[in-house]
Amino acid sequence: MLDKHTKVCLCKAIPRLKIKEAIANGADTVEKVQKATGAGSGGCGGRRCTPKIQELLEKQLNQ
Ligand code: FES
Repeated sequence: MLDKHTKVCLCKAIPRLKIKEAIANGADTVEKVQKATGAGSGGCGGRRCTPKIQELLEKQLNQ
């Protein structure tokens, strides 16, 4: 519901929807998601967004 507005990566303004799409398209590791979306390459150096990506990955892959 809030996927479009909830930012996973604040510094690059990447919404959760983007991350989910990347996972749906076959990105099954944090690195692949980051590569596909650009998350993790911003100011936090991956520290802020990596745990969130990990969580989304686990949720989506365990469905
Ligand atoms: S929150 Fe943007 S790179 Fe981590």
